[in-house]
Amino acid sequence: MIDGTRVCAIIPAAGSGTRMGRGDARSKTLIPLRAVPVILRTLGRFEESAAVDDVVVTLREADIGSVRDLIAGAGFRKVREVIPGGAERQDSVRLGFASKTAAAAGIIVVHDAVRPLVTAGLIERVIRAAHREGAAVAAVRPKDTVKIELSGALETPDRGRCWLAQTPQAFRRDLFAEGLERAGKEGFHGTDDVSLVERLGRVVSIVEGSYNNVKITTPGDLAIAELLLGRENADHGQS
Ligand code: C5P
Repeated sequence: MIDGTRVCAIIPAAGSGTRMGRGDARSKTLIPLRAVPVILRTLGRFEESAAVDDVVVTLREADIGSVRDLIAGAGFRKVREVIPGGAERQDSVRLGFASKTAAAAGIIVVHDAVRPLVTAGLIERVIRAAHREGAAVAAVRPKDTVKIELSGALETPDRGRCWLAQTPQAFRRDLFAEGLERAGKEGFHGTDDVSLVERLGRVVSIVEGSYNNVKITTPGDLAIAELLLGRENADHGQS
């Protein structure tokens, strides 16, 4: 709850993980990260966030049974629904949004299952900004210079005006409903969630994210996440 408003997290986890080089055999959310599957690490961060009331997970059909077992084994109490995702990320988020659990919330927070190092602090800051402003996104400044390729020619935007969008991304429920509806009507497929609200001409608040909030996409990312998690655990006296 944030100021009496119910908060539902949607965790899209229905990707195929082909960039992990393991083909479709195993979803990247099930890969162990220091002995615990990535999906459980991510769900654990939402479980421990005081700002989040309910969690909906969207998965590939083939993974639903095993993830339900993992969630039960971990003793998580906030995961209300584990449902099938769609062909693209946005479809998976839309299906999560259509759930009964999301319908009962005033704020929706979306977070990639493959970002297991998100902190409870960042989750709460993004939710609070969305509660205040309508929509919010965690983002970091690019360390490299950004180039945009336009029909073969390059442009170099001012790095001081660029952000790299991460998740969590959060919304007042009505505003996200409007964004999803417009995107559906116009056949727009975004690679993130707040882009749907930007298209409505509405302001999205930026919350400083963290370079440690890595997205596990390739085997190299997994190695980095293991190192970062090891450091986190050392700081907290865990193994
Ligand atoms: O790599 P990508 O940006 O598509 O994945 C981000 C998140 O969206 C991952 O957690 C992935 O499991 C999820 N996803 C999904 N449904 C899809 C594709 C990706 O839930 N069809």
